[in-house]
Amino acid sequence: MKRRKAIKMSLGVIGGGGLGLFAIPNLFKPKYEPQNDPVEVEYNLSSDSWRYEFLDPDTTAEFAYQQYSNGSCMYAVFASVVMQLSDKYGEPYKSFPYHIFRYGHGGIAGYGTICGALNGASAVLGLFIADRDVLDRVVTDIFQWYEKTPLPLFKPRKPANDFILPAFATDSVLCHVSNTSWSKMAGVKVDSDERKERCRRLSCDVAAKVVTALNDISLNKYIGNKYANENVNSCLACHGKSGKLDDSFGKMDCNSCHKESVGHRTFSNIHYKVISE
Ligand code: HEC
Ligand code: HEC
Repeated sequence: MKRRKAIKMSLGVIGGGGLGLFAIPNLFKPKYEPQNDPVEVEYNLSSDSWRYEFLDPDTTAEFAYQQYSNGSCMYAVFASVVMQLSDKYGEPYKSFPYHIFRYGHGGIAGYGTICGALNGASAVLGLFIADRDVLDRVVTDIFQWYEKTPLPLFKPRKPANDFILPAFATDSVLCHVSNTSWSKMAGVKVDSDERKERCRRLSCDVAAKVVTALNDISLNKYIGNKYANENVNSCLACHGKSGKLDDSFGKMDCNSCHKESVGHRTFSNIHYKVISE
């Protein structure tokens, strides 16, 4: 609250002085390294985890479309990858307790948190990538791709519902936000068959994306950080652990929930300057 008061005070002081309001904000931008350059990721997939074998993204997407009816989004993405390996190679894939991933539907048991397709993608990656830094990198890439890519793109060969669905980027990895924004933009109810078909096809897009990533890693040509959200990095320069505020963390698109206020736009820089380390 002290900081809020300080913002108001600086408003008074600067407003009273009436000088160069719009020149001030950029003067005090904290120094930070932009983190938006793509990086090469080198990792030997078979080093210390379950073995991944090359899979075709289109076949995987079709597989996910079929598996969706057995357990929804998270299940479909996980099963589309691991059941294919089970069909080809048997054990240990065959004994995997796939039913675990039914919990992921509707953003975890209908709770509306993380998108189940992304939860499934992360589980697949977690199974095959033991190194936590590499895992975080690839999961982040897929999440950031999902936030900014108009989805769904996948067209099933035999659609359960033969809709022509519009593709929208929803800026959010959360089931609630993603579903409600998409439904609003598409002009349909959240509980409609269109929205359900959207989630089904979107799961196929995510399944294809995850095997594309694994294929690239196994060929040693995976490029990470391709979908960096520079906006998040700039917010975290002040609000993240290396900033003076250190009151926020995460990589979700900040603007999907926080709309910048005029006060923030005008005074956050000068205010930040006067905050002690
Ligand atoms: C130049 C440093 C700086 C940057 C960059 C910055 N902020 Fe802030 N922000 C501040 C300061 C200073 C405050 C006031 C601190 C307090 O009240 O604790 C603040 C306050 C906030 C608040 C509290 C409510 C409000 O509006 O006062 C939110 C939410 C917030 N910032 C979000 C963001 C987001 C999202 C971004 C990126 C788009 C961002 N900030 C970028 C410095 C910054
Ligand atoms: C899913 C929605 C959501 C996203 C995404 C999100 N926030 Fe928040 N944030 C909230 C909510 C809800 C609160 C708590 C309510 C509040 O204080 O506004 C909060 C609180 C904050 C606060 C403290 C605000 C205060 O009043 O002191 C800051 C700072 C902040 N967020 C920054 C960020 C930054 C930076 C990002 C991006 C890395 C981000 N948030 C992403 C929802 C979100």
